[in-house]
Amino acid sequence: MIELKGKKVSESRIETAHLMMPNYANPAGKIYGGTILSLADAVAYMCAARHATPRCVTVSVDQVDFREPIEIGEVVTFQACVNYVGRTSMEVGIRIEAENLETGVRRHTNSCYFTMVALDERGKPTPVPPLLTETKDEKRRFKEGRIRREHAKELSEKRRALRERGE
Ligand SMILES: CC(C)(COP(=O)(O)OP(=O)(O)OC[C@H]1O[C@@H](n2cnc3c(N)ncnc32)[C@H](O)[C@@H]1OP(=O)(O)O)[C@@H](O)C(=O)NCCC(=O)NCCS
Repeated sequence: MIELKGKKVSESRIETAHLMMPNYANPAGKIYGGTILSLADAVAYMCAARHATPRCVTVSVDQVDFREPIEIGEVVTFQACVNYVGRTSMEVGIRIEAENLETGVRRHTNSCYFTMVALDERGKPTPVPPLLTETKDEKRRFKEGRIRREHAKELSEKRRALRERGE
């Protein structure tokens, strides 16, 4: 089996900004949560593609909290990095901030976690490079990602057991 070379978190980090346009908003002028998620999904894809391969897909989105509304005309920034890798999957964490261009005030509006899976030429899950964590924050995020993964597995096993018992 070929051993994949590790990659640093900094090699796949992404930061992008988008101006919130009127067509992104509901009639009350607040940006749709789905718009933010769609932009975040593309950011997660770019980050995972840099770490592993452009052939990767989103398998789950965890813990999406919309803490504050985002308004038309604000600049939304997405900061993403690979937090954790399993065998074929990667967790990409995204911090989302909205900036009011008139006041310059920047608010942390969302954080979310996307699990992406790398695929081979036949569309089957394929191993991803190990993640080389360097800073204290990167090491903490890796441990937190592993905890989220373990919780997700536990939950899906409990659900499967319930279904098998016909409950
Ligand atoms: C991604 C996909 C190929 C995985 O298939 P699968 O049969 O579940 O494959 P596996 O069981 O080998 O799981 C692959 C990895 O995904 C992880 N995984 C699977 N389901 C998961 C879930 N719901 N949440 C978190 N991780 C999950 C597994 O733990 C495994 O990770 P690991 O190798 O790091 O341990 C398949 O689910 C798929 O094609 N989904 C659709 C993806 C898609 O179309 N997304 C939207 C468009 S991009």
